[in-house]
Amino acid sequence: MNQPVVTLNNGVQIPQLGFGVWQVPDAETAAAVGTALEAGYRSIDTAAIYGNEKGTGTAVAESGLRREELFVTTKLWNGDQGHDRTLAAFDASLDKLGLDYVDLYLIHWPTPERDTYLDTWRAFGKLLADGRTRAIGVSNFKPEHLRRLIDETGVVPAVNQVELHPLLQQPELRAFHAEHGIATEAWSPLAQGTLLQHPVLTGIAQRLGRTPAQVILRWHLQLGTVVIPKSVTPERIRQNADVFGFTLDEADLTAIAGLDQGPAGRIGPDPDSVN
Ligand SMILES: NC(=O)c1ccc[n+]([C@@H]2O[C@H](COP(=O)([O-])OP(=O)(O)OC[C@H]3O[C@@H](n4cnc5c(N)ncnc54)[C@H](OP(=O)(O)O)[C@@H]3O)[C@@H](O)[C@H]2O)c1
Repeated sequence: MNQPVVTLNNGVQIPQLGFGVWQVPDAETAAAVGTALEAGYRSIDTAAIYGNEKGTGTAVAESGLRREELFVTTKLWNGDQGHDRTLAAFDASLDKLGLDYVDLYLIHWPTPERDTYLDTWRAFGKLLADGRTRAIGVSNFKPEHLRRLIDETGVVPAVNQVELHPLLQQPELRAFHAEHGIATEAWSPLAQGTLLQHPVLTGIAQRLGRTPAQVILRWHLQLGTVVIPKSVTPERIRQNADVFGFTLDEADLTAIAGLDQGPAGRIGPDPDSVN
């Protein structure tokens, strides 16, 4: 698979397509990630709270791929925010993954009520400086959280991983990212499968001889976002990686743009409500 990459604000490159493992039980994760690596994915998105860093690490170790061919992301859980707790939680994640470093470490949620993301971010800066992660970023941050982080620390996140799919296209947030050099990474890119019968998408899919899931992933790629679909089904894992051999035209992009519902299109929680 000839993979497009997105260059982050510190020069590190992330494959534009990755494989997400939320809700995959640890015991099944090595098999799913192994199938993904065989299908050509080179980027894996896990998190401490998913409970499957061990299975992810097993698949990486058994893949036969060189470490530098892979891009591994994990995330700090909310209860572990704060300077010293962050450093300890990072060690625990690395240990479970069985790795010497990760490629990207993310603050999972801003948790505004805890108000600990600034101290947490300073610890992330130390992990970056020590070479224990190649890039640092955040997840589920709104512009006000990003602005505060940047103003108070001077360190711009490389990535903000947020809910993004045709029902929730996040145009304002993406514009903020573009202005500040933050890469947008889309979680639940397939809206968890809820959109696959939508007539706009089935219509485009039929015309192109593709599936609705492939059409949605292609839309993400053409938008320029990093995208991390999840599946435990080998045929779907392979199908979701086969998205580089066709292009959506302007009319397709316009039709999909029309599906945006703004905040009403969220399937996950509002980031301000997660603490
Ligand atoms: N940072 C955050 O707060 C956050 C939050 C949510 C998710 N994420 C990340 O984003 C990743 C993806 O999000 P997600 O898992 O919520 O949802 P998703 O990737 O949008 O959708 C996954 C669902 O769609 C199904 N599916 C996948 N490919 C399909 C296909 N080609 N045809 C039909 N159905 C298909 C899967 O079923 P099967 O598995 O049964 O095949 C699964 O039920 C997560 O795994 C995680 O890494 C991050």
